[in-house]
Amino acid sequence: MLELRNISKAYRRGKETVPVLNDISIRVNAGEFVSLIGPSGSGKSTLFRLIGGVERPDGGRINIDGNDVTGKRGLISYMPQQAALFPWLSVADNISSALVTAGTSKKEAKEQAVAWLDRIHLGGVAKEYPHLLSGGMQQRVSFLRALLMRRNVMCLDEPFAALDALTRAEMQRWLLDLWEADRRSVLFVTHSIEEALMLSDRIYVLSPAPATVLRELDVPFERPRRAEVWTDPAFVTLKRDVLELLGESHSSRA
Ligand SMILES: Nc1ncnc2c1ncn2[C@@H]1O[C@H](COP(=O)(O)OP(=O)(O)O)[C@@H](O)[C@H]1O
Ligand SMILES: [Mg+2]
Repeated sequence: MLELRNISKAYRRGKETVPVLNDISIRVNAGEFVSLIGPSGSGKSTLFRLIGGVERPDGGRINIDGNDVTGKRGLISYMPQQAALFPWLSVADNISSALVTAGTSKKEAKEQAVAWLDRIHLGGVAKEYPHLLSGGMQQRVSFLRALLMRRNVMCLDEPFAALDALTRAEMQRWLLDLWEADRRSVLFVTHSIEEALMLSDRIYVLSPAPATVLRELDVPFERPRRAEVWTDPAFVTLKRDVLELLGESHSSRA
């Protein structure tokens, strides 16, 4: 379980102090899929850097499974917007290196990497280097790496934002299938309301910077999620609620 308590962060810009995160408290329970939606520049990636321990908050605490991990690195798996693969390693070696990081022996990691790639229908490109793969394929490999790191918490920062609409829909389906078979605690950043509603158990809506939590919403749709969940009247209502929240927060600052 991931818990952020009263997180604040500001950056210095010349002589000015610019607040980015203002008293953010959020929770991701074990095996829960939680999304953060907020306007661009609201501080979502900053929040991930704090969770990953790359930077420290000015105020507040970060707990994982009850332990204070504020400022500690290496405890979560992280997937950025652009696939982060080692360009000098084959696709299979990119996967096996994640398994080795998680404690698997090198020999076993090699075997498991091949089996995993088969399972996600990328067995055919196991020996290729990442740059030869399409954007969608690279994101699959990148996500698989994050999954196989075997951390208790996965943080995904707009992983599909750079993909075209069709590939994106396919990737959402793919991610859900994989996650539903092996539930991890996921914190997922997106600016797509539909994507958040499609994937999540809960959603936090953030205000523009300095980000505060405007609302926490439960997403009631049963799992496994149907691909047509977006036709549910409750989906439409929730979507409108989030749009209003985001719209109001914009116009109140204009
Ligand atoms: N290292 C930094 N130094 C100064 N300002 C930063 C730094 N990192 C982020 N910011 C500022 O913090 C704000 C939030 O950025 P970011 O977390 O990337 O937003 P988001 O991911 O929600 O789009 C932006 O105004 C950005 O310019
Ligand atoms: Mg960002």
